[in-house]
Amino acid sequence: MARKKIALIGAGNIGGELAAYIAREQLGDVVLFDIPAKADYARGKALDLEQNGAVLGRDAKITGTSNYDDVAGSDVVIITAGIPRKPGQSRDDLIGTNLPIIRDVATNLKRVAPNAFVIVISNPLDAMVYELKRVTGFPREKVVGMAGILDSARFQLFLAREANVSVADVRTMVLGGHGDDMVPVLSACTVNGVGVEHLIPKERLDAIIARVRGGGGEIVKLMGTSAFYAPASSAIAMCESYLLDRKRLLPCAVQLDGEYGYKDLFMGVPVILGAGGVEKIVEIPLTAGEKEMLAKSAASVQSTLDIVRKST
Ligand code: APR
Repeated sequence: MARKKIALIGAGNIGGELAAYIAREQLGDVVLFDIPAKADYARGKALDLEQNGAVLGRDAKITGTSNYDDVAGSDVVIITAGIPRKPGQSRDDLIGTNLPIIRDVATNLKRVAPNAFVIVISNPLDAMVYELKRVTGFPREKVVGMAGILDSARFQLFLAREANVSVADVRTMVLGGHGDDMVPVLSACTVNGVGVEHLIPKERLDAIIARVRGGGGEIVKLMGTSAFYAPASSAIAMCESYLLDRKRLLPCAVQLDGEYGYKDLFMGVPVILGAGGVEKIVEIPLTAGEKEMLAKSAASVQSTLDIVRKST
């Protein structure tokens, strides 16, 4: 059987890390796409990664390109095209630059990769994935945004450090938009089944939640650009669940059609990802407080979408 083909649109920090991971884990061949001005950069990165494969004994073919014809027939496309945040910027501040970019990417993908499973990482995430879906017209099962896994991972890490337990035993669930009002669902946050509220005092939990909400910004402030290792691994979890039909239950941004009471927007909710793409949107019971937080988060997603809709 031929190896799967995974196209990465954007050969920057996250794109490079994604390519390295895919090659190392032998998930498929990689096409590393960037704009013409960065074509040689993409080719150079691809060559470096193929040579890395020689050291590791991995056969994945990695191609750097700025030609969409090379993306044709991809099984999975992961989009990081755009600019990342600089210190002091919110994700929404990126919309002016990243909206035309996602439209350009979507127009080309519609032509060359109509059967791909598409994962969007570019920010502002919930608006970018909405626009990708609108322009391509791809089925909703095949278009997802990566945010919830990353936000949940940040929560997982901070809880593990606070409770002094292994990160491997901490389970978390963060829903809603990928913004400062994301919704941590405490009933789904446990250390191997033991509710975190039994292990960590409320004031510390509140402080940790505040840190998770600003978790992306904390890194931007330190590095001058946005995170890339954890975002790449989060997208890989989604890509792998699709390609290997693992049917993992993961928080992903998907188009809602009445689920959780919302329609015609993308927002993070728990879904099952398998060979059919988004095979199921899982509706979990939320407390009144969580519902209120979700409504606030949905309102922020909606206000960014208003800007997107006005500019069409
Ligand atoms: N088509 C393809 N690639 C593009 C386009 C385009 N129209 N416009 C820009 N790019 C490329 C840039 O040339 C750059 O190489 O996207 C790449 C982005 O890489 P980085 O600047 O290193 O950014 P990265 O850290 O990878 O983040 C990308 O993901 O998490 C989000 O907020 C982040 O929106 C940002 C995105």
